[in-house]
Amino acid sequence: MSSAPLLTPEIREDEEELEQTLRPRRLDEFVGQARIKEQLAIALEAAKGRGEALDHVLLVGPPGLGKTSLAHIIREELGVGIRAVAGPALERKDIAAILTAVEARDVVFVDEIHRLSRAAEEILYPALEDFRLDIVMGQGTAARTLTLDLPPFTLVGATTRTGLLTSPLRDRFGMTFRLDYYEDHELTSIVGRSARILGVEIAPEAAAEIAGRARGTPRVANRILRRVRDVAEVRHEGSISTAIAREALELLEVDEAGLERLDRDLLRTIVEKYDGGPVGVNTLAASLGEEPDTIEFVYEPYLLQLGFIARTPRGRTVTTLGRAHVGGAVPEPAGEERLF
Ligand SMILES: Nc1ncnc2c1ncn2[C@@H]1O[C@H](COP(=O)(O)OP(=O)(O)O)[C@@H](O)[C@H]1O
Ligand SMILES: [Mg+2]
Repeated sequence: MSSAPLLTPEIREDEEELEQTLRPRRLDEFVGQARIKEQLAIALEAAKGRGEALDHVLLVGPPGLGKTSLAHIIREELGVGIRAVAGPALERKDIAAILTAVEARDVVFVDEIHRLSRAAEEILYPALEDFRLDIVMGQGTAARTLTLDLPPFTLVGATTRTGLLTSPLRDRFGMTFRLDYYEDHELTSIVGRSARILGVEIAPEAAAEIAGRARGTPRVANRILRRVRDVAEVRHEGSISTAIAREALELLEVDEAGLERLDRDLLRTIVEKYDGGPVGVNTLAASLGEEPDTIEFVYEPYLLQLGFIARTPRGRTVTTLGRAHVGGAVPEPAGEERLF
């Protein structure tokens, strides 16, 4: 079986279509994030009441928590058009093309906005601030700037961390919303909702079982649900009982903490081969037969978040919690300070 991680939150190419089906369309279908919904609802209603464009919105949060969904909800609630683009691919001329085609109060959604090129970012500043587009015509001494007035529009930007954004860009957003990881009960209702859309019956406890292993992330919950549904269809009658959910999760090797096989291998390798660490990421990667980048960006974030591993200047160590999870003996507290 492929060892591609099941539980990492980034979207995969083959998921785009299904995600669209599962995506909440209206604000009241969007589960959780109560404060954000409340604030956004007021801003939306006020903007609509005045017939104005909504202030520019920055959505911040780890992958899979609902940033893209919210961007589309905003335009749905405003009843306007949307242009959705990805930051890294945008050149100056692409931004100019998008902005000149924009209609009053439209939404322009820029995903991964922290990865805009400098040139692309600079053309955005006057557009965001004064709805003005400065186009440079010609070159050298013959160059002239042509200024176009734009209809007021709303930029919705999404980023995984605000720290990655330049401050002039950050300052041009009227509203910034930070999405948090979801509570288990919220993920349970997301799983229930997705099951309804997919037309599969699921016991509430089975939904909770899936939710508890989904790393606080709706995308992961939905992905597990689909794999569990496969097991229910192939091995059983199709509907998902708690026992079937557990059977499927066991088959998928996803444990109660939401770790999969390679996560546990990583913990065990540090404990057993490197005496709990510290061990450098390159050495660790070689031991596991993975790329160092995969270890660092795919596996470590969740282990760090759980407090199962720690990063030290000399490498990775497994914490007491992490040891306990893989059943490793926890060393006696040393009488004196331990020297590495
Ligand atoms: N609050 C939510 N309520 C219901 N489903 C959600 C929610 N947030 C995310 N999802 C589901 O998770 C998937 C991933 O969300 P998405 O908006 O693409 O996340 P992001 O853009 O932050 O990576 C969506 O397709 C949707 O089905
Ligand atoms: Mg997204």
